[in-house]
Amino acid sequence: MELPVLAKAHPSPSTADPLWWRSAVIYQLYIRSFADGDGDGTGDLAGVRAHLGYLKELGVDALWFTPWYASPLADGGYDVSDYRSIHPAFGELEEAEALISEALALGIRTIIDVVPNHVSHEHEWFRAALAAAPGSPERERFWFVDSPPNSWVSNFQGGTWTQVPDGQWYLHLFTPEQPDLNWNHPDVRREHEEVLRFWFDRGVAGVRIDSAALLIKDPALPDVRGDEAPGQHPNTDRDEVHDVYRSWRAVADSYPGTRVLVGEVWMPDPVRFTNYLRPDEMHTAFNFDFMTRPWDGAQLRESIDSMLAAHAPVGAPSTWVLSNHDVTRTVTRYGREDSSFAFATKRFGTPTDLALGTRRARAAALLSAALPGSLYIYQGDELGLPEVEDLPEGARQDPMHFRSEGVDPGRDGCRVPLPWAGGRPPYGFSAGDAQPWLPQPHDWAQYTVEHEASDPGSMLSLYRAALALRRTLEGDEGFAWLESEPDVLCFTRGGGFVNVTNLSDRPIDLPEHDSLLLGSTPLVDGQLPPDATAWLRT
Ligand code: GLC
Repeated sequence: MELPVLAKAHPSPSTADPLWWRSAVIYQLYIRSFADGDGDGTGDLAGVRAHLGYLKELGVDALWFTPWYASPLADGGYDVSDYRSIHPAFGELEEAEALISEALALGIRTIIDVVPNHVSHEHEWFRAALAAAPGSPERERFWFVDSPPNSWVSNFQGGTWTQVPDGQWYLHLFTPEQPDLNWNHPDVRREHEEVLRFWFDRGVAGVRIDSAALLIKDPALPDVRGDEAPGQHPNTDRDEVHDVYRSWRAVADSYPGTRVLVGEVWMPDPVRFTNYLRPDEMHTAFNFDFMTRPWDGAQLRESIDSMLAAHAPVGAPSTWVLSNHDVTRTVTRYGREDSSFAFATKRFGTPTDLALGTRRARAAALLSAALPGSLYIYQGDELGLPEVEDLPEGARQDPMHFRSEGVDPGRDGCRVPLPWAGGRPPYGFSAGDAQPWLPQPHDWAQYTVEHEASDPGSMLSLYRAALALRRTLEGDEGFAWLESEPDVLCFTRGGGFVNVTNLSDRPIDLPEHDSLLLGSTPLVDGQLPPDATAWLRT
């Protein structure tokens, strides 16, 4: 790949920059657990507004809010009952509008989550469908049948068909509280375009598209055989789904400034994945390949190569993601013997070495921030929060846990409210002393923002320094490997910037350089220890 002569040093990207999304740092905000402004134990918009300064200082360009809409919270808000209103526990629409403009005044854009595959069973359409008779137009917006035509398995285990009192059954790829919409119905298409306009009109800079590959179903609803040709699977990644995103792109492009479409696309085949990123579809999608790989030099190198190669032909930048609200926290995962991630293998009682995991997470933070493309940071990763693995059973909320009959620990452990200050729960999360909706561990005083901000060796200090330095790389997407041992990821982004990540088990010499810009661990006798990254100027 050709390298630019010099990396350009940019100040904070101007809000008018149409290419802001190509290299943006996007902070994933799980609103229930970020900060509680009204003292009821649940995070809210007031809490976010009170901490915009923290996000500015951290150095992020955009916030992605997991769903903040009215919802019975059967799946943490991914069961939306009304897209045009905010969940009352989080605040009101006017506050969301205020937040969007206050953040923008600080140069921080807002991305919201849309969940097109399904709605809540309390959504007015589904209520109307239940109230109407079998065969009625109201039922045609969903998948109602007289008897289950297949044995599709839910993404949360168990069946995908639930019977209603009049005897019909409806489809849900997730929980029964999340009925799947019928995307062949014109109302469904029109409504979602209107929802996009509703929020674009309110200044949001983009949408994260939930379960983006699942929308279209084969109308014959056949069983999954397992040997379907690409694009022909009965409920995943069907070729027709791309028409939906082409029409969404046209809506986004009709607005001034760039309104981005970011896909949640879990897709093992890199080409099927980047099909979603063709120039008239989405702008970017989460690179889960990198996130699910173990801490292993060859594996990460291969992932970087294959993702950059897959993105190049469609002209889209890659994204780099270490975790999110669905997966095991980074420091916990990297401290495990098997440090890859897979939903199917999550189990209680899997040992981890948090000191090791934290060293690797620090190295991974710099590595991912050095790669070309946009960077996602899940709230709390900048503090190095571990997965909370010993939540009391009565506190757990995640349907993934319950639908596995308690075998899968679920996703609550990465959703525990953030610790801000002080020595005991709620660590400043709640304005008052209210206990958070998920209990925080008693040893989290070491992870509070207050504590870490005053420690130059903390994860927070590392993230702040890394994001500030990263800005000096913005503006070019050059990337080239430099010669190194196989377990060392050594590359340049041009302009004399070099990243060296040591995944071997011994200290290594650094390439010749003028200065050490930043390190995840101090050098030892001039060498880079194992599980560490150094940023160099050469
Ligand atoms: C996505 C979300 C996840 C949610 C699911 C169903 O995978 O990230 O949290 O449970 O979709 O909407």
